Amino acid sequence: MDRIKIVGGQQLHGTIPISGAKNATLPLMIASLLTDETLILENVPRLADVIQLQRILGNHGVDIMIAGKRPGDDPNAGRTVHISARAIIDTTAPYEMVSKMRASFSVVAPLLARKGEAKVSLPGGCAIGTRPVDLLIMALEKLGADIEIENGYVLARAPKGLRGGEIVFPKVTVGGTHTALMAAATAKGTTIIENAAREPEIGDLADCLIKMGAKISGAGTSRIVVDGVPKLHGARHSVLPDRIETGTYAMAVAMAGGDVLLQHARPELLQSALDVLVQSGTTVTPTNEGIRIARNGGGIAPVDVTTAPFPGFPTDLQAQLMALMTRAQGTSHITETIFENRFMHVQELARFGARIQLNGETATIEGVERLKGAPVMATDLRASVSLVIAALAAEGETMVNRVYHLDRGFERLEAKLAACGAAIERLSA
Ligand code: UD1
Repeated sequence: MDRIKIVGGQQLHGTIPISGAKNATLPLMIASLLTDETLILENVPRLADVIQLQRILGNHGVDIMIAGKRPGDDPNAGRTVHISARAIIDTTAPYEMVSKMRASFSVVAPLLARKGEAKVSLPGGCAIGTRPVDLLIMALEKLGADIEIENGYVLARAPKGLRGGEIVFPKVTVGGTHTALMAAATAKGTTIIENAAREPEIGDLADCLIKMGAKISGAGTSRIVVDGVPKLHGARHSVLPDRIETGTYAMAVAMAGGDVLLQHARPELLQSALDVLVQSGTTVTPTNEGIRIARNGGGIAPVDVTTAPFPGFPTDLQAQLMALMTRAQGTSHITETIFENRFMHVQELARFGARIQLNGETATIEGVERLKGAPVMATDLRASVSLVIAALAAEGETMVNRVYHLDRGFERLEAKLAACGAAIERLSA
């Protein structure tokens, strides 16, 4: 198993290109199941999760062609992927596949829309809380699906096709809103989605579905209206930049000090996180090329933050912010409201000498002057990158074990940080 070695204490200077968003790419790839024509996605990040989803879609009969690299291509540019679900040969998504990547559960909506049936394994446990799928199922039922749960599988049927309906989410759910959009796009009649998630990745999926012929209005607000069309067609769509990767590197620069341009980043995708960084004493400057992040000399000011659905502070940046606050000049509070139990990084951060106390859903972080490098273990995707951030400012050497978690969501992390002067290297097993 690969490990990442980091020697702390180097400032970061230079440019980090931001990749296409993982959390947009996966649902966009899944949306390809809705048409028998080719969907071309550009700016697709090179991530383990993308490869895994490619396998899962392949099982349903989807052909995926990833354009190879040509001489002179920018190594940082995302890839162009041609996805063709001309014939769906299997409507079952087995446990072995769905359990490896929760996002793949969403195939249930397009399979049902296109073939009138789907048998998809429940995703099972996950390191960051129970993460149920009841609201995704509720959304499908509202559109006329008949759903049974048997032996750990969701059996969904809509032999006469899905029909428009009103879906009122009692809680903001990104996965639920993705599912509702995909199911409603070709349902008969109009669907209204109330309390829809407003995350930028919802807008990106809606934009792509519109290019494929769907009639959707209101994406990006909490009320989305979808007028079903009989059929979707092929399209070409470029994935939006990853706001979580952007926020992660912004926090890395705030932690290590220095001055870095986050190229292609868009401030409106993570304004709440940028506001928190400014409060912490970091200089944030939007430019034509992206966002410049700098911290020179001054200390890190403590902050109080609560995670919330977009446009609030994202749960996917909670662990990274906590890493940064371990070195603040004072006491910070971070409250996690989206997922219970998303504090696996706390005990690993403690190995650097961080002082963090947990009380229910709130962590109290007392900033310390020094962190010391340590062997640590990645637990989930965002938690593991928080350890990298801590290591950048820790004295001495840190070894991050189990980095496959990082590879699921961060493209060429060590190369991007090393190019800015970090002492970081991957040790292959
Ligand atoms: C969530 C985050 C998303 C993040 C992703 C990966 C929010 C609103 N969503 O999306 O930004 O990128 O995790 O970390 O911040 N829930 C149910 N029943 C369901 C579905 C969800 O009770 O059927 C609950 C969840 O347990 C959670 C909340 O709703 O408490 C939000 O979940 P949801 O947005 O669906 O999760 P993800 O799509 O994974």
